[in-house]
Amino acid sequence: MSAASAIIAPGSTIGILGGGQLGRMTALAAAVLGYRCHIFAPDLDPPAGQVAATTTRAAYDDFDALARFADSVSVVTFEFENVAVAAAEFLAGRVPVRPNSGALATASDRLREKRFLDRVGVATTAYAGVAGAAEAVAARAAIPGPAILKTNREGYDGKGQIRLAPGDDVAAAWRRLGTVDAILEAMVDFACEVSVVVARGVDGGVASYVPAENTHVDGILATTRAPARIAPAVAAEATRAARAVADGLDYVGVLALEMFVTRDGRVLANEIAPRPHNSGHWTIDGCIVSQFEQHVRAVCGLPLGDPERHSDAIMENLIGDQIERFPALVREPETRVHLYGKTAVRAGRKMGHVTRVFARGSLG
Ligand SMILES: Nc1ncnc2c1ncn2[C@@H]1O[C@H](COP(=O)(O)OP(=O)(O)O)[C@@H](O)[C@H]1O
Ligand SMILES: [Mg+2]
Repeated sequence: MSAASAIIAPGSTIGILGGGQLGRMTALAAAVLGYRCHIFAPDLDPPAGQVAATTTRAAYDDFDALARFADSVSVVTFEFENVAVAAAEFLAGRVPVRPNSGALATASDRLREKRFLDRVGVATTAYAGVAGAAEAVAARAAIPGPAILKTNREGYDGKGQIRLAPGDDVAAAWRRLGTVDAILEAMVDFACEVSVVVARGVDGGVASYVPAENTHVDGILATTRAPARIAPAVAAEATRAARAVADGLDYVGVLALEMFVTRDGRVLANEIAPRPHNSGHWTIDGCIVSQFEQHVRAVCGLPLGDPERHSDAIMENLIGDQIERFPALVREPETRVHLYGKTAVRAGRKMGHVTRVFARGSLG
């Protein structure tokens, strides 16, 4: 058996860069299979650290701490993509890093991501790179309708985005973003937003979950419904696109492809999340093998699990003070409440989610 396909056995320690709820739910799934997790994050009391064997509190550019972390784990993965690519590359010299740092570099830069999607035959909305005020004006001439200007890097939950109506001053908007590196996208007048969560193993095998339908409020995911209410041909194209992305990145682990479905039934990719995704949280309660267990299986070289759902599901995020609904939610039958152990409640902060399950086939 080659080193690349060797199984990382239960009992081993998985290193996770990032300490948020995605790391927390990955660590919980890892524990079910008998693994330990070591969380590396700069934050005090990270949600993932509460359920992991070990936590290192250090900055992502603390290379001494990263070296000690690498020595203490059998494989490294991420729970969010805004980890410095330099950290991933440094770790990759010492320990298997899954997914690979190239996938992280592609998925953490919107312009690079869109160019990659073009290369692997996945359609997107019209876009143009913007690295200066003059370029912003040129890009706006090419994309004159409703548009959205985004920072290339480090945006999440709708942060770092400015919407432009015809006539708005694009150069001023670019200056307001406060970063040189940006992308202008034509606004998509979508019928719905969907995502496909796909796992790819070290042997290149893939397992994808049914496309899910997402609603956003203020740029933040509010609800996910699985399966999405889309035509079979649209679902097939969304699934094909997510697999093409996983193959094109030579990916190992779970990723999500966020997409728009246009009113005439086209599928346009929006962004790649190189990690388990909020729109896959329903799989904990709707599938035998959740996206988090699938991620653990993939990065440890285990066979992928069955992604079929046993139930349809609707997931609702608990954002900010919505966590105050906990006493009522916890009394609801057929509702599973997940809280992330965050003490400080802030507007826009993901505090937890609830999943309501339904008989398979009753929602789709
Ligand atoms: N080009 C676009 N057309 C229409 N809506 C968009 C577009 N880009 C982003 N949005 C809306 O904003 C949300 C967040 O944008 P996204 O690019 O996914 O950034 P983030 O990294 O913050 O999730 C999307 O899910 C969608 O609802
Ligand atoms: Mg998004």
